[in-house]
Amino acid sequence: MNGSQRPLRIVVTAGPTWEPIDPVRFIANPSTGRVGFAIAEEAKRRGHRTTLITGPTHLTPPAGVRCVRIQTARQMLRQVSRAFPQSDSLVMTAAVGDFRPAQPRRQKVKRRRLAARWSLPLVKNPDILGTLARRKGRRLVVGFALETHDVLAEAMRKLREKELDMLVANRAKPSGEPFGDRPVTGYLLDRRGNIDALRGVTKQRLAKLLLDRVEYLWQTAT
Ligand code: C5P
Repeated sequence: MNGSQRPLRIVVTAGPTWEPIDPVRFIANPSTGRVGFAIAEEAKRRGHRTTLITGPTHLTPPAGVRCVRIQTARQMLRQVSRAFPQSDSLVMTAAVGDFRPAQPRRQKVKRRRLAARWSLPLVKNPDILGTLARRKGRRLVVGFALETHDVLAEAMRKLREKELDMLVANRAKPSGEPFGDRPVTGYLLDRRGNIDALRGVTKQRLAKLLLDRVEYLWQTAT
């Protein structure tokens, strides 16, 4: 942070969501939360007031960061909606589940009662970023995207359609990138038309690049 600037209030989301099927099963995804935790750590190191809203992960929150733990997409929406009005920037790295079981069972579904084929009705989860970006005012809203193909075209469409200020578009590779400790390949785009290619950068490096851009957009906002 530049010495003359006030600290920003940054809300970072991280990790997967868990959408219950019954009390002992859920639908999740391979997100580990690493990129969100790295961003929260770097934001704190720069002196920003940082809140981390995270799905289930084994990671330890950085010291000095307010951490709120949630499990489902709807719980994340509730917590992000509460923190958003008092924030300057929202960085949504969370891999929010797109769907959840329509009616989680109160009791464990017994395997012996199931036929060889079982259909589980799903309903769409709320789009947290889409919901909040519409009422962002001066806040800087940053999204993440994970694609296997057409990475840049999809990224440009999402940036525009979700009215984001920045987007990090990750390329998902058969090697397992960008999950866990693996590096990130893709693009960092902003609403002013800047596009930077990311070629195998670590998550710590991505956190620095992202916060440099957030601070720059904030300081040069008209
Ligand atoms: O459209 P897509 O799901 O690829 O967008 C990904 C971005 O949207 C991520 O920043 C993710 O955190 C966010 N998202 C969300 N609510 C959802 C699904 C994704 O805020 N239900």
